[in-house]
Amino acid sequence: MLSARRSTAVVALTYFVSTLLTFTTAALTPRSNSIVVREESAASAFVYGVDGGNITFAITAVKSNGDIWFHMAAPSKYSYIAFGTGKQMDGSTMWFGYASSDGKGATLSPRTSGDHVEPEYSSKIKCSLVTDGFENGVVNKTLLVNGHCTNFTAAQSGKNGDSKLNFDSTQQSFIFGLGPTSHTLHSNDLDAGIRRHTEYGTFQMDLTKATVHDGDGVTPPKGAAAWTNSNSGKAEDVTTGDMDYIIPVHAVAMCGAFVLLYPGGVLLLRVLEKVMWHAWMQGLATIIAILGVGLGIKLSLTYNHSKSFNAAHQLIGLVVVLACVVQFALGYLHHRAYKRTQRPTPLGRIHRFAGPVILLIGITNGFTGFNFSDNAKDNIWYGAVVAIVLVVTVGLLIWARIRNGRRAKKATSQEFGLPAYEGMRGEGGNDSGGYDASRYGSNVHLGTM
Ligand code: HEM
Ligand SMILES: *[C@@H]1O[C@H](CO)[C@@H](O)[C@H](O)[C@H]1NC(C)=O
Ligand SMILES: *[C@@H]1O[C@H](CO)[C@@H](O)[C@H](O)[C@H]1NC(C)=O
Ligand SMILES: *[C@@H]1O[C@H](CO)[C@@H](O)[C@H](O)[C@H]1NC(C)=O
Repeated sequence: MLSARRSTAVVALTYFVSTLLTFTTAALTPRSNSIVVREESAASAFVYGVDGGNITFAITAVKSNGDIWFHMAAPSKYSYIAFGTGKQMDGSTMWFGYASSDGKGATLSPRTSGDHVEPEYSSKIKCSLVTDGFENGVVNKTLLVNGHCTNFTAAQSGKNGDSKLNFDSTQQSFIFGLGPTSHTLHSNDLDAGIRRHTEYGTFQMDLTKATVHDGDGVTPPKGAAAWTNSNSGKAEDVTTGDMDYIIPVHAVAMCGAFVLLYPGGVLLLRVLEKVMWHAWMQGLATIIAILGVGLGIKLSLTYNHSKSFNAAHQLIGLVVVLACVVQFALGYLHHRAYKRTQRPTPLGRIHRFAGPVILLIGITNGFTGFNFSDNAKDNIWYGAVVAIVLVVTVGLLIWARIRNGRRAKKATSQEFGLPAYEGMRGEGGNDSGGYDASRYGSNVHLGTM
């Protein structure tokens, strides 16, 4: 009896103390983090099925101070999930969520964007993860991000009305984008490099149903809960399988020019001994390289890490392609002089020396390119192709040199011209324009590339 009464007293006292503690802690917690359900609770949620699960965006807005609270989720196989205000990237204020550097937590990065360029982190938009009692990070193959942005309506930068959140709007537009699954993005950096989305679209939300009046009464939309579409329209203008085609086209054009076309042009000259074919081939390679650089410049302007044109890959690439143009001019000038004088020229010597140097630097710039675009794994097959091409090219050049040595010997011993070159000598030669190996070869070492 007695002991029972005592234990009741203990329970009552414990209850009293713990209640007191709860209220005191709540009162002491800074305002921005106090999540005390007192009066209002409202949220609009957008849920959309994508490959691998749902993407979710649930938002609660606070009229009195312009704060927003939101919950974002997406299958973690996507390198990032992003939601943004408005109908298009240009002028939108966006929230990017991606895994933290250990791959377990979450990073929330508020960004703004111009039209179809990589969005840039903006420190003016004050957003942070909501941590107390909320789960952020990769949970069960889903990336969960719970965010709180203070004074959001004042900080957002939208130029046109649509890209600013209007809490009174029943049809507020939003955009979403999912990062490519082919890339991994684990970073704590708020300005981590982002690849172009593979899937994107727009949707509308009734924000009036998501707005509360007073910041004290807000119930932030919580994670893990199974959200369903509410106060929100369907996804529209959805594009899947999107990618930045300019990246691979740039890579194929540049690597193709330096690894296949230019070396091929060298072989046309040294092995097949077709001067004009050599000229056409190197001209074609140079045009492709110039077009490829055009794409490189376009790419540079698209991504934040390349905007300032100060990466080795960009600078070396520009110099190399400029050198290719000069090299073409040298080849042409040399050839013209040679046709007149039938003598080697200083320009020809520079051309012959610079050629392999430029090619090797250009080929090397492919490796730095893959590193620059965070694609180091592609260096493996690229390295294999480069190795094969080098072995084959050098092998054929050595073979051609030996062949020419033999021919020259035969020619001197027989005191004959070289039948194989006869037709190429002089003005009328079909595609040659005066490539006289008996002279040229002895002076210029045909076999040396
Ligand atoms: C010899 C010249 C060049 C070669 C061989 C070359 C090759 C490459 C390669 C292989 C890549 C990787 C693409 C991928 O990940 O699939 C790349 C990326 C890139 N290149 Fe070049 N490139 C050259 C010149 C240039 C120049 C002159 C510029 C600009 C001025 C440039 C700008 C870029 C940019 C910005 C990227 C990275 C794209 C990203 O952000 O992911 N490249 N390049
Ligand atoms: C993880 O997700 C699967 C499928 O979506 C679900 O069946 C399972 O209950 C989840 N596990 C946890 C711990 O949430
Ligand atoms: C919100 O930001 C604007 C301008 O940035 C400022 O004038 C205003 O005082 C801020 N309001 C609050 C509640 O912090
Ligand atoms: C996606 O959301 C719908 C409801 O909107 C739900 O029925 C479905 O189970 C969700 N799928 C997953 C994988 O969570």
